[in-house]
Amino acid sequence: KANPRLRKVMASLTTHLHDFCRENEITVDEYMAGLDLIIAAGKWSTEQRNEMLLMTDILGLESLIDEITYTLAGEAADAPTATAILGPFWRKDAPKLKMGDSIVKKDMKGSDHASMHGRILDAETGKPINNAEIDIWHTGPNGLYEQQDPDQPDMNLRGRFFTGPDGEYELYCLKPTSYPIPNDGPAGKLLGLLDRHPMRPAHIHFIVSVEGYKPLTTQIFDRKDEHIDNDSVFAVKDSLIVDFLPKEGDSKAKFDLRYDFKLIGY
Ligand code: DHB
Ligand code: FE
Repeated sequence: KANPRLRKVMASLTTHLHDFCRENEITVDEYMAGLDLIIAAGKWSTEQRNEMLLMTDILGLESLIDEITYTLAGEAADAPTATAILGPFWRKDAPKLKMGDSIVKKDMKGSDHASMHGRILDAETGKPINNAEIDIWHTGPNGLYEQQDPDQPDMNLRGRFFTGPDGEYELYCLKPTSYPIPNDGPAGKLLGLLDRHPMRPAHIHFIVSVEGYKPLTTQIFDRKDEHIDNDSVFAVKDSLIVDFLPKEGDSKAKFDLRYDFKLIGY
């Protein structure tokens, strides 16, 4: 017996697809060209490279669905940290590090080190959360994630940190760099056909998770980035835009960033 939710969304999808075709008078040739692009994206996809996700991301779908999911969950709590899309470059089992450690395993040209710190808090009560895991990842100064770049050591610029009872975290990372989403495949071709650029503003990814709370997948964005208002995958939200401040008296970092994460309790 068909699942009622599946029945409902498929009926709606069919209606909208038919309306779309009628409204735009889609021809057989156009339909086949569209299918070719989808087939090409499927063929490009591997475990390392989810080209179908990239394709939907440049249409803003993952960001829209993230917003819907956040709105449903966020209504219960008081201004929890906004969510943002996972994107294609998270890896499981990033190294477990100690508070105060750096995720930078190799100093590459253009590296600007930053000290990042803050607290993990309960959105409703404002109380610190013990034993929360902060999983962080970002690109090198060349705009490549470690798994895209043979010149970076394995698991470079990735790490997991665990809070104590004060909910505090502290780590060293890089001030992030803007970079193009992988655009050598069908998603890049579609961007080109639409005269769109592939750039994402400089960002750092996080998953903050702990028992009893809804896992938070998010990103923060550098306010000064030239692409802050035109992210190719539409993930920027005002509350996730941050300022990297100059840091004095720390030989390990030129920039300072304080940021608190507020989680929704179950
Ligand atoms: C996408 C997201 C990212 O965070 C990224 O670094 C590259 C691509 C995406 O949504 O396609
Ligand atoms: Fe990213």
